[in-house]
Amino acid sequence: MSNKFDFEYTKGYTSYPEVTDPQNPAAKAPYIDHGTAKPDKTRYYSQQEHDLEWQHVWRKSWTFAGLSFDLKQPGDYLRYDLGKESFIVVRTGNHENDVKAYYNVCPHRGNYIVTEDFGHVKDNFYCNFHGWKWGLDGENTKVKDDVIFREETLKNDLCLRSVRCEIWNSLIFINMDADAKPLIDFLDVIPEHLKNYPFGEFRVLRDFEAEWPANWKTAAEAFLEFYHSDDVHPEVIPISSTLETQYDLYQNGVSRMIIQNCLATCRMEDQDEVNPYLKMFVEMYGGDNNDYKDLKGFEYKKAFIDTKRKWGKKQGYSFFDNLTDDQIADDWNYHVFPNMTLNVFSDGLLIQSWKPHASDPRKSYYSVLTLCLPVSDPNTRVMDINSFGPDSFGPPGWDGSERPARFRPNWDDPEEANAEVWGRVMWQDAERIPNVQKGIESDAFSGAILCEAEIRIRHYLNEIDRLIGRE
Ligand code: FES
Ligand SMILES: [Fe+2]
Repeated sequence: MSNKFDFEYTKGYTSYPEVTDPQNPAAKAPYIDHGTAKPDKTRYYSQQEHDLEWQHVWRKSWTFAGLSFDLKQPGDYLRYDLGKESFIVVRTGNHENDVKAYYNVCPHRGNYIVTEDFGHVKDNFYCNFHGWKWGLDGENTKVKDDVIFREETLKNDLCLRSVRCEIWNSLIFINMDADAKPLIDFLDVIPEHLKNYPFGEFRVLRDFEAEWPANWKTAAEAFLEFYHSDDVHPEVIPISSTLETQYDLYQNGVSRMIIQNCLATCRMEDQDEVNPYLKMFVEMYGGDNNDYKDLKGFEYKKAFIDTKRKWGKKQGYSFFDNLTDDQIADDWNYHVFPNMTLNVFSDGLLIQSWKPHASDPRKSYYSVLTLCLPVSDPNTRVMDINSFGPDSFGPPGWDGSERPARFRPNWDDPEEANAEVWGRVMWQDAERIPNVQKGIESDAFSGAILCEAEIRIRHYLNEIDRLIGRE
């Protein structure tokens, strides 16, 4: 194990050098050269850019709206807001994939039809302004007092306006563009890479959404690189490495980074030492460090893999057998263009998304869904990914049966804007973002100087440019 590696930018770092088959999901993707120029800083605050993005990116892209297992029976719905639009996503039939989506807008005078994050209608949506109704299929079922309408007015389309809605692995996406390519194609390599993860078996541990005083891209970019971690999340240095992180670029703005876990990396002075944090992770999953006495710190991931496989068996998760050792231990982080990341762990899934404000380019919404595998054993604790790192234990015996309501912490309230509410790791990122936004707008700043660990930022900005027609 060497303490250093030769860095050549077209190669970068490779997490699993033994993987040589390019079809293997763990393989390093070929380099895409996005050059070295500074991105134009005005795209992080200009109204014109905000409007161009709405037209060419948000109205044309698949964006994550919610989880199909949150819609348990016909009539269950969720509300999804994006920019100036609001949508209803509703379960229409007995199968989990029987889901449709509509604009949350009454065709009569424009009133919003649903106002809650989640709800249920028996068989009709109802507008609380003048009492019109629609079936789950969006067809109008009632115009109140229709005799007082002239015949011609009721020849207008009275249905709820539908929007494209498709599901991949329990994740529901919508697209305002009727001509968009199917979701599965838009996601490029992701469905193939993650085909062995049954996200439907995970459940929601946390759900929150906060309005941030920053452009959505300023916020999202803090989550597209691991370069910041030593300085923002120093507590994870003993178990993972910013320098030894693999970055991969794919089609449609999709990208990935692989963050290895539970090993002493080149950031540690003594890579042979099995530090207390490595031991703690093994213990957390019920392992006994005495079983792994022969392993050195830099190879301790093997202990973690072994422990976690046993943990999966004990909890009854047979899909662990289909995951590679690296998938068992590591965090495979995908960027689903334009605005969503998936931190995929074998026993956890962190879904983050960053959404534009309806009109203000200096504001955005940050949504976090933390999913864990429920545990059957009352003494087992799940990993709270929002506090990922030492001491990041979730509740004991968490069975996932109680779906928490969406919490909207107030950024300006110290009672709600703190590490306890957000989770330590989330908060460490969150508290820096508004300052980054202000700094970007300073006369002293002329655009970001990006390293190769920040290549995913160039990649998605490049895709935005392509969609806007600026290439
Ligand atoms: S606005 Fe909905 S019924 Fe009038
Ligand atoms: Fe971070």
